[in-house]
Amino acid sequence: MPAVAMPVPMRDGQPEDAQVFFSTDREIDLYDLEELCDAVGWARRPLRKVRKAIQHSFLVLSMWEQRGAKRRLIGFARATSDHAFNATVWDVVVHPDYQNCGLGKALMKQTIECLRREDISNITLFADPHVVDFYRRLGFMPDPEGIKGMFWYPD
Ligand SMILES: CC(C)(COP(=O)(O)OP(=O)(O)OC[C@H]1O[C@@H](n2cnc3c(N)ncnc32)[C@H](O)[C@@H]1OP(=O)(O)O)[C@@H](O)C(=O)NCCC(=O)NCCS
Repeated sequence: MPAVAMPVPMRDGQPEDAQVFFSTDREIDLYDLEELCDAVGWARRPLRKVRKAIQHSFLVLSMWEQRGAKRRLIGFARATSDHAFNATVWDVVVHPDYQNCGLGKALMKQTIECLRREDISNITLFADPHVVDFYRRLGFMPDPEGIKGMFWYPD
């Protein structure tokens, strides 16, 4: 998928020529991704496992701010899939400096659009309690047929 350009929402001090791009290129610098995840307080994960997860994901979507020749990773999402019916979205994140200006919504819309283009009809995700309403606004419903999700964790 070619990178998609969209204007950066105006924020204080934001140069007007800045743009946001989406990319499905999975050659992402893992240290950049770790920095992004650190910025929202996520627990660190071994980079070799993160690399493997990215390699084996069905869709990897990164969001970049471009200012002149400089690019900065400002958002990320990925999805795993059976390539036919189902996909599950993971690791949705927008850098705190760029939150609350519509970019999380744009990232999720782009994710849904990419999955729909692949004819995936059943999109699921696991929402942390504080973001349930963020996903609701995008059309996701918590357990529409009653609680079906079941989890197994090692002791
Ligand atoms: C959740 C997250 C991706 C949202 O990104 P964002 O860029 O701030 O979201 P947006 O500005 O696009 O918000 C879109 C809409 O959702 C609402 N929204 C954003 N965050 C919300 C939240 N935590 N709870 C409820 N609503 C929220 C916004 O008010 C906006 O509503 P509107 O369309 O009516 O104006 C971002 O806050 C983030 O990265 N959080 C830390 C990581 C995380 O928790 N990820 C989810 C793991 S399940």
